[in-house]
Parts: sequence; C-alpha cells; structure tokens
Amino acid sequence: MIKVKIKGTGIYAPKKVVTNFDLAEVVETSDEWIYERTGIKRRHICSTEGGEWPSDMAYEATQMALKNAGLEANDIDMIIFASVTPDYKLPNTACILQQKLGITNKCAALDIAAACSGFVYGINMVTGLIKIGAIKNALIVGSEMLSREVNWEDRNSCILFGDGCGVAIIGANENNDDSDILSVHLGADGSGKEFFDQPIGGAVEPIAETHLKEKTHFMQMKGKEMFKVATRTLAENAKLVLEKADKSLEDVDWLIPHQANVRIIETTGKLLGIDPEKVIINIDEYANTSAATIPIAMHEAITDGRIKRGQTLLLDAFGAGLTTGATLLTY
Ligand code: UT7
Repeated sequence: MIKVKIKGTGIYAPKKVVTNFDLAEVVETSDEWIYERTGIKRRHICSTEGGEWPSDMAYEATQMALKNAGLEANDIDMIIFASVTPDYKLPNTACILQQKLGITNKCAALDIAAACSGFVYGINMVTGLIKIGAIKNALIVGSEMLSREVNWEDRNSCILFGDGCGVAIIGANENNDDSDILSVHLGADGSGKEFFDQPIGGAVEPIAETHLKEKTHFMQMKGKEMFKVATRTLAENAKLVLEKADKSLEDVDWLIPHQANVRIIETTGKLLGIDPEKVIINIDEYANTSAATIPIAMHEAITDGRIKRGQTLLLDAFGAGLTTGATLLTY
C-alpha cells in the first residue's frame, strides 16, 4: 500500500490578541485564576469586520502549507474542512475555500463537524483514500471562530476559547521515504452529548428573540465532566494507536494533544507515563481553538525545529459529541 506523508503545514492566527487581563475587565476573573486552572495567558480573536472568517484564515494557512510542500493549489484532490464555526450553513466552507484558493480541478470538498477532534478525523479519513491511490493530496483544515459562539458574560466558558486555523497537506509519499501514517483510531460516545453543546440555532430550535435576550444560544459546557472524560480518553487513545502499530511509548518522539487545558494534558501525560519534555503545549498563546489546536501546535513545532523528518508523532484529540481520535505517524 502507498505510504502517506504530511507534506506541508500552515497556520493563521488572528491579529487581535486578548489577554487574561483584558478578560478580567469584562468578567469577574483574574489572570492568576485563568493561568493556574488552564495554562492560558492569551487568545487570538478574529475581526468581525471581515478578512478573518474561517475560510480566510484557512486560505492564508493553506498558502503557507502549499509553499512548504512545494505544491500548487490544483495539486489538492480533496478538501476536508473541520469546524464547528463554518462561514455559513450553506454552502460548506470547504467549497468556499476551494474557490478562494483558485482550485479549478473540481476536487471533492466537504466539512466535518467533529468539534475538537475534527482535524484528526480528517487526517484519519483521508489516509485510507491515499493508501489505495484514490486521491493523491488532501488538504485538512481545522479553522475556528469560536469567539462568535462564546458567551462573553459567562466566565466559566469564555476564558477557555480562542480563534485560529491550522492546516496540513497530506498525500502519497512518492519518494517512499520513512514518512507514513502508522495507525489510526476514531471514536465517539453520544451519551456524553450534553457535556458540551449548543442546542439552540439548529433545526430543532432556531434562534428566537428569547434566546438572544437570555443568551441561551451560545455554547455551553460542563467543565468538570469534560475534564474527567478527556484525560481518560486521551490516555486510552494513545495506548490504542501504539498497540495497533505494535509500538511503545518509547518510540514516540512527540505527543501533540488537543489543547483544552494544560491540566488535562499533564494528567494525560502522567496516566501514560510519558516524559513531559515530549509533549507539545502552546495553549498559553492560543487557548482552545477546537479543531485548530493540533495542526497549530504541530506546525509551530515543525517550524521551530523540534519536530524533524523521520520522527514519530502521536496526535491525540477529544471534543464535543463526544468525539475522539488519534493518529500515530512518522513525520
Ligand atoms: O475542548 C474540549 C472542551 N473543554 C474542556 O474539556 C475543558 C475541561 N474543563 C476545564 O478545563 C475545567 O473544568 C475548567 C477550567 C472549565 C474549570 O476548572 P475547575 O478547576 O473545574 O473549576 P470549577 O469549575 O470547579 O470552579 C472553581 C471555582 C468556582 O467557584 P466556587 O464555586 O468554588 O466558589 C467557580 O465559580 O472557580 C470559579 N470560577 C472562576 N473564578 C474565576 C469559574 N470560572 C472562573 C473564572 N475566574 N473564569
């Protein structure tokens, strides 16, 4: 079977930065509380004037990834856009991005709503298609404008989230070098769907005036429940993909977990027994950007030279749904 390679990555971080100190002027909180409980110092927030919509961020990040991969936009055979904050309900944001990128090859373009696991869902789903030769290069996007869906008056949730985008171009390893996807895992548990949801604004209950008045149309989260499931699930995922690939934790050079809370990441690390030096954390800068956290963290570590070709990476995600997934790969 054809080996699968991450050929290029890119990111876009919105220009506006909101620090914990800025938030403390809006809700009853403090830099100390937020940093101690979450590891977050600041987050980037999209402009509402345009130019930084999810598809715009993805456009910028993709230009960077194409350059890194040495590819042209028309080399992309499929676009998967992972987001819970698409530009519009219709058409999907992958199609909008296809047009913005000037892709004329009529490649497949779809959105997936797997929340914070979306990027890993995308990577894992296209792996099979690349391995059998059905497609050559896929663009996987995690792009979120969560600031639109957060209740900025709710200190329990607004402190946690940020906006941003990370992308990866993943495709057939034409040189047949060491790079490959070694194993994948995807899962979900709908019994935890109330832990993190946004029930207003869909087909069941469209947004009405009362929702706007009572601010019930925003995302809502049961933080403690999410925390418990997250640590257990992330640790289980890691073990599963290692087992599937007949590898051990010692073989892993870098664990790139979803960035929801530094304490979740640390607890997961302890459950696994991984050296903390091998865990990539950047939540201090971006907060939780949902589907974008893993590709942003991966890109930064590639760019600053921590991640090198031939090393083994473990991507590990969980999110609303509850969805989850992991990927073990040789970069
Ligand atoms: O991407 C996946 C989705 N996200 C997650 O998985 C997040 C998972 N959960 C978490 O990260 C944590 O549960 C939180 C950061 C959300 C909360 O941390 P916690 O340690 O579980 O705090 P808590 O909810 O137990 O709150 C402790 C206290 C409470 O006061 P009392 O009741 O003890 O007097 C809260 O009212 O802290 C209070 N509190 C705050 N204080 C200052 C809650 N939010 C804040 C705040 N600033 N922003």
